[in-house]
Amino acid sequence: MSSITLSNLSKRFGAVDVIKGVDIAIEEGEFAVFVGPSGCGKSTLLRMIAGLEPISGGAFHLDGELMNDVSPDKRGIAMVFQSYALYPHMTVAENIGFSLDLKGIPKEEIRRRVGEVSEKLQLEAYLDRKPQALSGGQRQRVAIGRAIIKQPRVILFDEPLSNLDASLRVQMRAELQQLHRTTGATIVYVTHDQVEAMTLADRIVVLSGGQVMQADHPISLYKEPDNLFVGQFIGSPKMNAFPARVAAVENGAARIRTDDGWEVALGGFRSLNPGDRVSLGIRPEDLSLAGTGERADITVRAILSERLGMETYLSFETSGESAIARVAGDHRIDTGETVPLSINLDACHLFDTAGQAIRRGQI
Ligand SMILES: Nc1ncnc2c1ncn2[C@@H]1O[C@H](COP(=O)(O)OP(=O)(O)OP(=O)(O)O)[C@@H](O)[C@H]1O
Ligand SMILES: [Mg+2]
Repeated sequence: MSSITLSNLSKRFGAVDVIKGVDIAIEEGEFAVFVGPSGCGKSTLLRMIAGLEPISGGAFHLDGELMNDVSPDKRGIAMVFQSYALYPHMTVAENIGFSLDLKGIPKEEIRRRVGEVSEKLQLEAYLDRKPQALSGGQRQRVAIGRAIIKQPRVILFDEPLSNLDASLRVQMRAELQQLHRTTGATIVYVTHDQVEAMTLADRIVVLSGGQVMQADHPISLYKEPDNLFVGQFIGSPKMNAFPARVAAVENGAARIRTDDGWEVALGGFRSLNPGDRVSLGIRPEDLSLAGTGERADITVRAILSERLGMETYLSFETSGESAIARVAGDHRIDTGETVPLSINLDACHLFDTAGQAIRRGQI
């Protein structure tokens, strides 16, 4: 259990800046999840925390202690890799106990701790097997066992579940939550999976191009993204964004007119002026089919509909942008069909021309 503070942290590979002044404070016992596009620097950040990659600039403190030049084995940090990196010639028990063996801890003590860890991870039945005789999920658990047996202050996970099938992921997700509760360890976890990020994280850190775009509670990121990048990165399918301008501001409501001429009236946006260019952000789930006799906010022409059973994704185009409505229930919608949609106006987002969020009630 330890707090991690990254202050103006940077990393350069030759002439290339990969991490560009990152400030993140992770509290003791927190489950922090890093997300961001491929190549944005997630693995590099983890490797810098683990001590596998030298820090080019800035500071990394663990419980207030400067770690920049502390060797990896003295940091009390364990890392679980996507590839598991198990020793193929060792049994499960030997893999899990290896780091204790290296430290010269007595065999009896190692056996006891391997027993404890394997019980926690439900690996008791496999202790004598070699990794190649294990399923992906079991191998993943061995990799986790190898990390937690050291009783680390911090556990780093780099996309640990990405090699597993969907049902095993759901199971391992629950097990990771359990592990976090029982060990109380501070966890930093990298994933590309939206559901993992939303459900596991106390806080999600969204990265882009080696910089933090926003760090917040998952639901806060979803509901109040600081910028269009975060708005579109969190949520799947991603938030639609339509080029628009402010047509009028009257009685505390802004009339937003998209480039295709349809309008929405949004309450609370007092700081806007008529003529301002904005992006109107509407999540696919905030668009619904307008029932008969119900007022439609927008009428669109279907390009494609994807029937998933419990919901239907409807693709359309407006104001030069392709967009998706995620409507509840199963609907057969033909290509070219005209579809009236309602918009959840309270959930609409506005962004300025630089992509920064304009908040309701902001003066
Ligand atoms: N040893 C290295 N030398 C030069 N460039 C590197 C090195 N390691 C990583 N990079 C570059 O640093 C950037 C960040 O890489 P990193 O592996 O941290 O990305 P990532 O966010 O983990 O991506 P992914 O989601 O694909 O795993 C990339 O552009 C990568 O090419
Ligand atoms: Mg990576």
